[in-house]
Amino acid sequence: MKPLISCLIGALATGVAAVALAADDAAMRKLATNSGCLTCHQIEPGGKGPDGLPPIGPAWKDVSARYQGVSGASDTLTRTVMTGSNPYASHWKGKVSGLAMPPNEVAITEQNARALVGWILSLEPKK
Ligand code: HEC
Repeated sequence: MKPLISCLIGALATGVAAVALAADDAAMRKLATNSGCLTCHQIEPGGKGPDGLPPIGPAWKDVSARYQGVSGASDTLTRTVMTGSNPYASHWKGKVSGLAMPPNEVAITEQNARALVGWILSLEPKK
């Protein structure tokens, strides 16, 4: 009987985690939409920007893959989102049609930007 019960509890916990993740997903997509991020970014790679050009900013799953295992990525990217990126040192040169990201601090609080970056970094499963 014991193993069955712990198995049930395990299944329950997994279910709860999945529901929490789905809720997080919806909340983060809404935050990204309301903060204007999705006018320049897509979540899935391979999309096209206006006029069939590459998208203006990198797909967030590509961002997630690129910064996997990079220490401090969450802090650095939160700062970039708030203050904008450096057009003379583009991280996505040749892959996107935008030269730089403008500062987003008018559109989003630092706390929300941090939450969004955390979610972006979690989009690709850890290898
Ligand atoms: C006006 C267009 C635009 C908007 C709006 C925008 N971005 Fe960006 N974003 C870009 C571009 C262009 C880049 C690529 C910069 C580069 O090549 O270094 C970028 C890069 C990024 C990166 C990767 C930075 C790096 O150093 O690799 C993250 C993370 C990001 N954006 C998140 C966000 C979030 C979150 C929002 C909303 C709060 C947002 N962006 C809004 C255009 C935009």
